[in-house]
Amino acid sequence: MAVNRGSPEWYAQLYADARAGSSKVMWDHGEPTPYLLDWLGERFAAGGRRGRAVVIGCAYGDDAEPVASYGFDVTAFDVSVTAVEIALTRNPGSAVDYRHADVVDLPSEWLGAFDLVIECTTLQSLPPELHEAAATSVASLCALDGEVLVIARCPSEVDPPGPPWLLTEQEVGRVAVDGVRLTRLRRIPMRGGDRWVGSSHARVQVASSEPIGDLRQPLAARLPAGGNGRLQRRRMPSSRAGHSTTRPTP
Ligand SMILES: C[S@@+](CC[C@H](N)C(=O)[O-])C[C@H]1O[C@@H](n2cnc3c(N)ncnc32)[C@H](O)[C@@H]1O
Repeated sequence: MAVNRGSPEWYAQLYADARAGSSKVMWDHGEPTPYLLDWLGERFAAGGRRGRAVVIGCAYGDDAEPVASYGFDVTAFDVSVTAVEIALTRNPGSAVDYRHADVVDLPSEWLGAFDLVIECTTLQSLPPELHEAAATSVASLCALDGEVLVIARCPSEVDPPGPPWLLTEQEVGRVAVDGVRLTRLRRIPMRGGDRWVGSSHARVQVASSEPIGDLRQPLAARLPAGGNGRLQRRRMPSSRAGHSTTRPTP
């Protein structure tokens, strides 16, 4: 049976083949996503509030481990059970709680539960028809006054059509939903292609008239003017709740 590229079954097969030695995981460079360490240093080296963090599409844990080293209590998840098993094997004694979960079908107890949400190149690895739902899911993980980091590779004229389905500026802005606001979006030139680095914050609403990010507006119009807006975090509809995770044995 043909398996759609980018589906959970496709990732399951890829990681199983990689474990068997018959294929390679293209993004497994044994190091964190480019720019993640710089961002963590910029943001937290001088202090700042810690708490719970979640790493989306964690693969073998190369992003999750440095986030934990900054003092966060980290949950990291991947849709591939094999990836999670290998992450546990590669990081013995890790403080990271590695889990099996699907970003578009999250356990209800994770919604609004994380002070820091890290999304590095997983959105672009999903088929385009899932991008909007997945971006909303990313936002749904963020706690009141929490923050979201998105790192994604920018599309260029020479890139063939996906996979990976590289995100436009507008698509990166889709995490600005459900009470989360995009506060800064940079395009950073890097070897192997420019990266989008977007930081978002979730805020508590004090004025009910303030709109949340309207995806029909251009991104610039959705950036906060003064950064003082306080917005309400809404819970996701209960239809997306109730999924439980299993922690595979290493
Ligand atoms: C391009 S890799 C990025 C891995 C890691 N973030 C990095 O930058 O090295 C995408 C990862 O997301 C995982 N993934 C794909 N679809 C997913 C989904 N629906 N939910 C959670 N993880 C998913 C894949 O198994 C893969 O490990």
